[in-house]
Amino acid sequence: MTQHIPDRHDPDAASDDFGPFGRPLFDDPDARALERVGVIDIGSNSVRLVVFDGAARSPAYFFNEKVMCGLGRGFAATGRLDPEGRTRALAALRRFAKLASGMGASPVIAVATAAVREASDGPEFRAEVTRETGLRMWVVNGREEARLSAQGVLLGWPGAEGLVSDIGGSSMELAKIGKGKVGARVSTRLGPLRLQGLGSKKAIRAEIEETIAAQVAEMGMHHKRLFLVGGSWRAIGRIDMERRGYPLHVLHEYRMDPADIRATIAHIHETGIDALRAQTGIGEARMALVPLASLVLGTLVRKLKPREIAVSSYGIREGMLYQQMPQHLRDRDPLIEACRFAERKDARMPGFGRALYKFVAPLFKKEPESRHRILRAACLLHDVSWRTHPDYRHEACFDNATRANLGGLTHPERVFLGLALLHRYKNSRAGTRFEGMIGILSEPEIAQAEVLGRAMRFGAMFSAQKPNDLGELRWFPKRRHLELRLSDSARDLMGEVAVARFKSLAAALQATHDIGRRVP
Ligand code: LMR
Ligand code: MG
Repeated sequence: MTQHIPDRHDPDAASDDFGPFGRPLFDDPDARALERVGVIDIGSNSVRLVVFDGAARSPAYFFNEKVMCGLGRGFAATGRLDPEGRTRALAALRRFAKLASGMGASPVIAVATAAVREASDGPEFRAEVTRETGLRMWVVNGREEARLSAQGVLLGWPGAEGLVSDIGGSSMELAKIGKGKVGARVSTRLGPLRLQGLGSKKAIRAEIEETIAAQVAEMGMHHKRLFLVGGSWRAIGRIDMERRGYPLHVLHEYRMDPADIRATIAHIHETGIDALRAQTGIGEARMALVPLASLVLGTLVRKLKPREIAVSSYGIREGMLYQQMPQHLRDRDPLIEACRFAERKDARMPGFGRALYKFVAPLFKKEPESRHRILRAACLLHDVSWRTHPDYRHEACFDNATRANLGGLTHPERVFLGLALLHRYKNSRAGTRFEGMIGILSEPEIAQAEVLGRAMRFGAMFSAQKPNDLGELRWFPKRRHLELRLSDSARDLMGEVAVARFKSLAAALQATHDIGRRVP
């Protein structure tokens, strides 16, 4: 007997039954700050425990451990779980159950996907796990698996639109997303472990072609973006990065177009897996699946013709977390929430970030909301690196912004944020080791990040002021003139260093300037 999570989008799903997730954990705001949420993903390739810290909108990875058990290996021949995989998975789950309870993350939610769902000894394994570890395992069906990983994508990008594809060991799911919702979804048998069992190359190709052709009819073509979830897709993304010499080694939000995918697939076949492993550091078990996974991806891209392809590090595990969030929490912006949290935890004057944003905003009047969102993030983060040695603060800032585990941020936005924060501490970026990455931005974006950095550097001189008593910057773009109006009490803070920083801001704007009288 397997158990299925009731699908809350299905009208016939029991409305008072929250399935394995129980009641949403975060309904109580006081509980939210304390909560630690543990999830276990029992996949066909890997078994993984993730403990999310803080029930914030943007999760921090308190703990993350994976074992490549290969439960789905050999399924085609036996119809059963791989015996060695089963032993290893049980051992991993024993450890995970213990860890989760030690970390205060229990009851942990354990979800099993294709291998356990399809193997004839799946139910027996499930019972054994419960008996031996106390874990309750929820075996989800394919559509539910698709929904959970699509929700993971929404956790990172609430505004994501397109098609999510999650590849596991034994299955490949597709789900439509848009307007914050998961739409139609399907589950296919195109997992690399499963395909291996078909034997001949010809049979494998035919299976891939046929299956995907049938899905195109169902899911449509020309999606705005194809989001790739799952370890085997990530490995292909990593190889694409290496091939292109891409400077920012962050897989989440890494973008490719159909031509890149074609080139990388050719590259995989020409280079061979041993050489690729040496170049990228991808593990042996994972790399063994890459050729078959790339065959699936090639066909998917050729037939679906998405305009763009993006890797998502968020998938089923994050989808399980999302499942537990009340709607009002889902609706919040993960980037801003993460920055707010960082400010509260690490800034010297939490709360000043908002005032600083209000102060610098007049310089960016014509910018769209999408840019203002990054300005707000920068202001919230402007002081979180204050404990770093002054000589390295600008570098620490850049590293934090570009490498942080942040959702809701494109790569150019990451670099923009990093560069603005670098200039929060230092006027010059010459000689930093970031030059390659800065090249992701256009010249006007670089100039704008510098203006923002210098404006924050100047505004930070007034952090002792009451937030609504900073005075104001007035910017006249046509005349290229910058004027400062200070309140009476803020004038005392306008010392020599502040004057120099104000002038340096005006210089970045190529503007004339004056320090006007008090705010009327
Ligand atoms: C699986 O089936 O194990 C996947 O979801 C994840 C992986 O490691 O490929
Ligand atoms: Mg999976």
